[in-house]
Amino acid sequence: MSNNSHRNQYNTSEVFQPFMDHQVDDSYYRQEMRKLLPQNLSGLKILDIGCGTGHDLAFFVERGAEAYGIDAAMKMVQYASKKVSAAKVIQHDFTKQFPFESSYFDLVHSQFALEHEFDLTKIFEEVHRVLAPNGVFFLLVMHPIKHLLEKTNHSYFEQEQYVEIFFDGTASVQMTSHCLADYLSPYVLSHFRLTKFAEKSFEPGNCVKEWGYPSYMILRLAKNNL
Ligand SMILES: C[S@@+](CC[C@H](N)C(=O)[O-])C[C@H]1O[C@@H](n2cnc3c(N)ncnc32)[C@H](O)[C@@H]1O
Repeated sequence: MSNNSHRNQYNTSEVFQPFMDHQVDDSYYRQEMRKLLPQNLSGLKILDIGCGTGHDLAFFVERGAEAYGIDAAMKMVQYASKKVSAAKVIQHDFTKQFPFESSYFDLVHSQFALEHEFDLTKIFEEVHRVLAPNGVFFLLVMHPIKHLLEKTNHSYFEQEQYVEIFFDGTASVQMTSHCLADYLSPYVLSHFRLTKFAEKSFEPGNCVKEWGYPSYMILRLAKNNL
């Protein structure tokens, strides 16, 4: 797969269909993320980057938020727009400038999406730009330890695009490995305050090794007003 085709992979039926079949609201990772969100979302402007089928957009709208989503895959955008008609969903590559004005959002949310990309710098810059002065970025990504255990080059530092198999083996996608410093970069640490950090495991049976390790991590990043 070429360097850019990973952005189109969610349009293929081999990936899109398993996603349709596994959109369960009570996924443990969604619950873990929601524990950290503000209790009252009413009236908040929320942007979900890499929104997929719009499962979290539906959650935000049900709780009275004004919800926006961007996703690179047209099939995902069409599905999410239909499912959550109150949300504004736009096809957009989140490594490019976001199609929103500065300081517009109270909250930016992203779950299992950033790790598809190689370079996260522009994404963090754009999240910072579109967040309001007291805005917060809720980010859930694959844990770098999980990348390390599944990639083939066995190097923590060397970035690799590898195949991630999920949904009981019914789907596979190209994933890009990252190390912790890609998320806690000098830019992130100077433009945001890390106010919550959690490391979590997928449920037993979903691990590639017998022993426990963190599968994903959640960062709560409050915008620093410079
Ligand atoms: C694993 S899915 C997660 C979807 C959703 N956040 C969820 O938790 O159900 C990853 C999503 O990120 C999107 N994505 C990946 N790279 C992207 C990019 N550069 N710009 C926008 N969306 C992207 C994919 O199209 C896909 O819908």
